[in-house]
Amino acid sequence: MLENRDELDAWDREHVFHPSTHMAQHARGESPTRVIEGGEGVYIVDRNGKRSLDAFAGLYCVNVGYGRTKIAEAIAAQAHKLAYYHAYAGHGSEPAIRLSRMIIERAPAGMSRVYYGLSGSDANETNIKLVWYYNNILGRPEKKKIISRWRGYHGSGVMTGSLTGLDLFHKAFDLPRAPILHTDAPYYFRRTDRAQSEEAFSQQCAANLEALILEQGPETVAAFIGEPVLGTGGIVPPPKGYWAKIQAVLKKYDILLIADEVVTAFGRLGSMFGSDHYGIKPDLITIAKGLTSAYAPLSGVIVGERVWKVLEQGSDQLGVIGHGWTYSAHPLCAAAGVANLELIDELGLVGNAREVGAYFNRSLAQAVGGHRIVGEVRGEGLLAAVELVEDKADCRLFDPAKKVGPQAAAALLERGVIARAMPQGDILGFAPPLCLTKAEADVIVDTVKGAVEHVAARL
Ligand SMILES: Cc1ncc(COP(=O)(O)O)c(C=O)c1O
Repeated sequence: MLENRDELDAWDREHVFHPSTHMAQHARGESPTRVIEGGEGVYIVDRNGKRSLDAFAGLYCVNVGYGRTKIAEAIAAQAHKLAYYHAYAGHGSEPAIRLSRMIIERAPAGMSRVYYGLSGSDANETNIKLVWYYNNILGRPEKKKIISRWRGYHGSGVMTGSLTGLDLFHKAFDLPRAPILHTDAPYYFRRTDRAQSEEAFSQQCAANLEALILEQGPETVAAFIGEPVLGTGGIVPPPKGYWAKIQAVLKKYDILLIADEVVTAFGRLGSMFGSDHYGIKPDLITIAKGLTSAYAPLSGVIVGERVWKVLEQGSDQLGVIGHGWTYSAHPLCAAAGVANLELIDELGLVGNAREVGAYFNRSLAQAVGGHRIVGEVRGEGLLAAVELVEDKADCRLFDPAKKVGPQAAAALLERGVIARAMPQGDILGFAPPLCLTKAEADVIVDTVKGAVEHVAARL
């Protein structure tokens, strides 16, 4: 294999269509192929033997860390026994049933059933369809609009790409599509009125949401979707009072709440679910990533009792629900999910995310918070962001053409730490595996300090 590296690289450039990649640069060989061959704990190893501390856990998904044989063995054992059977018409497999039980036991109160898919995007497609189906059963065919937030990330399908509130995911795809609407990003750091308090900013977000609902007609608005902490849009924890104020508006107009917990479920914030962390009472919850720690692709929609009752009652009127994927509740992925959730408990990873997360966020703020190009260090649990700005005092951003965020991420990578340059703004994102130790957190923090100083010196 090793002697064929150049050939493999050529095949990659000629045949692989990489997601979220500059296609021409890659095809021309300007952005090299990086083949990852192994991983252990929080480290990955590439083909050249270079070890990097993966402070973004892949795409914030390898929550238990790399190289967990328990999950590999669970997948192998299930593959030997039964690799696949479908879940249509009441069929099942033992791991899928066990996993559903484990999810509901861990989920916020009032949750009832789990519908499985393979990605966060397809789970949110399911959410949209369920919301429409629900209102049709209730005889409210006009109540179909879904409100998302600018900077929200909910996937990159046609409808989920529409929910996503980031320009990159709309550009030249003719998105967003109706009936998706967007409201304010709960991004206090970027407020226009610098003197505004956090509570007043949250109040303004809720008031603007209410104004949008009234302008559209509450009878046409079906649901609101949001991540407990804005993720890909910049890793932004909600401002004080935000979720309570938003939920009061939704309740007033009988609008369902979808909590997109693809990133936050199963421990990322130091709580099992982000909804419980912030007092959110959702009707539907999207899960993926941390459900299997990405050892196999699996997502789900957790349906709350209120929605489930209507769906169940509707089936006597509508018959079989016309929604299903071949791979729903795939036995191999479900086996990975069971082993993964067991491991999270056995290793105490939710508590570790809380404790080491608080230490990591504190150390990061101490190390770089005062730097002249660092506008804000923010985070919650094992999620963190360092936002780079031209001028701190008035929150003046860098010209995006300077690519300060990507430069900083490249400087980190050179020094052996992987962070993510978030797609909109000069923001370094951190979401390490939940097994991170304090010593490993120190390594990330020291490296960030060096990278920020390096980039600032060259500006
Ligand atoms: C909050 C959230 N929802 C949905 C998705 C889409 O998940 P997937 O990439 O598995 O389709 C993501 C992916 O990062 C996400 O962060």
